[in-house]
Amino acid sequence: MRQGDTETAVPASGIATRRFQDLPGPKGVPFFGNALQIEKNRVHEQFELWSREFGPFFRVRIGPRRLLVVSDHAVIASVLRDRPKAFRRPTHHGDIVREMGFELGLFFVNDEVWKNQRRMVMAAFDPGHLRAYFPSLLNVVQRLHGRWDRAAKAGGEIDLQADLMRYTVDAIAGLAFGSDVNTLESDDDTIQRHLNQIFPAIARRVTASVRYWRFVKLPADRRLERSVREVKMAIEDFIIQARKRILEPAANGRPRNLLEATIAAEDGSNTSDRDIAGNVVTMLLAGEDTTANTMAWMLDLLYRDPDVLRRAREEVRRIAPDVSRFTIDQMDELNFVEACIHETMRLKPVAPLLPSQANGDTVIADIEVPADTIVIGLMRRDATDDRYFPEPEKFDPDRWLGGGPHSPNAKSPTRVSMPFGAGPRLCPGRNLALLEIKMAMAMLLGNFSIDRVGAADGKPARELFAFAMGPVGLRMKLSTAQMTCGAPAT
Ligand code: HEM
Repeated sequence: MRQGDTETAVPASGIATRRFQDLPGPKGVPFFGNALQIEKNRVHEQFELWSREFGPFFRVRIGPRRLLVVSDHAVIASVLRDRPKAFRRPTHHGDIVREMGFELGLFFVNDEVWKNQRRMVMAAFDPGHLRAYFPSLLNVVQRLHGRWDRAAKAGGEIDLQADLMRYTVDAIAGLAFGSDVNTLESDDDTIQRHLNQIFPAIARRVTASVRYWRFVKLPADRRLERSVREVKMAIEDFIIQARKRILEPAANGRPRNLLEATIAAEDGSNTSDRDIAGNVVTMLLAGEDTTANTMAWMLDLLYRDPDVLRRAREEVRRIAPDVSRFTIDQMDELNFVEACIHETMRLKPVAPLLPSQANGDTVIADIEVPADTIVIGLMRRDATDDRYFPEPEKFDPDRWLGGGPHSPNAKSPTRVSMPFGAGPRLCPGRNLALLEIKMAMAMLLGNFSIDRVGAADGKPARELFAFAMGPVGLRMKLSTAQMTCGAPAT
């Protein structure tokens, strides 16, 4: 057990025996509270350090906002499940996004608006749609294959996250908006470049103690405004194209993707293209960095563990050896690769902090919590605790296959490691994300040898929190795989 774990087996909710203001926590300073102690893009690491010192429940103040930080997985899950009744997405997150110039999509809305949007998004991401979209996704994977083949033959290094973001943007634009943006085969990465300004800015502003940008615009704020304008233009184009496609006879009056469904539902109501655009940007926001960063972390972890890498490669070459003939059933059979994904997300969750806000006065575990308190779920703490996962720092995918020396102690490991959240707001894109990751990994492991993955300085990649948590500066070098006597060289 770790230092600071002075409390055990806390009920998820019960009778209050202490007050929020009596909880331990780091000492702050007037006005700023603890804001000056937190490096903005390492906020999750700072909270994890504090949780070692102060235990599973502690309090933090950022300017005027009071946060209850919780690392007990059962309590986090009970808060997440108690939405939308008792908790909501923090209101100021939506305010920040709206102030930037975007209308709110599913991730940021609450109440009835959330219920309506959720229904529509769930329908667009259901297994039937994913199956129907598989050929287009395969096309995107083949483009990534072409891009990496060219890099391997030229002996060049790949900027891993930049390429993976091209892949995830192309995949989402195809599935959710019906647009073939094909950033993988063009030199134009406009949309990613601008999204890369917007996502970190949201993360910075959400945790800012002073909203200085309302009074002074720094160069970064002016760059942000330019990026917002560019992304809005790209989104307008998605919407115009989708409106045209709805009118095509082939559409037969039925929406074929999320964007068409949103347009069909909104036509006749007084909602404008601005609201539709809100969901487009939300899908990009929620689906681009998260999936790309998970893949980047997975490659880093695989490269550092040659035995696991060999087993993943063997599975791919046995089940899905030919990228031009991938099927969705083959992807379903890649159990070891899937276990590698779960293990990656346990060690490197791209959403290490999950915030909710109390709708009214409430009790969390045994703590009396006032209305509007922000409750931060610290998602990695229990997932890397030896009470639940033996030798927790070890990358061991076998934990997820019910075997090996590191099988979880927890009855249900997915209740301890919750990379996609929990309850009614559980990530609706998780099946798409898993499919995207499996397809890219199968393409990579089946066709290339990985010569190197790492940061330029050769040290383990640093974690950077910028809306999603990703590795800093990972690069990859590939060569085309040699097959000898039917068996691939490793
Ligand atoms: C590895 C990839 C991904 C991870 C780890 C991830 C993680 C998460 C997490 C932690 C949440 C919050 C859940 C909660 O509040 O309980 C979430 C919500 C959401 N995700 Fe994902 N996500 C991923 C990929 C995607 C993709 C590909 C899409 C769609 C294109 C997507 C769309 C969304 C949306 C729309 C929400 C908001 C749901 C709501 O509030 O009702 N995500 N995701």
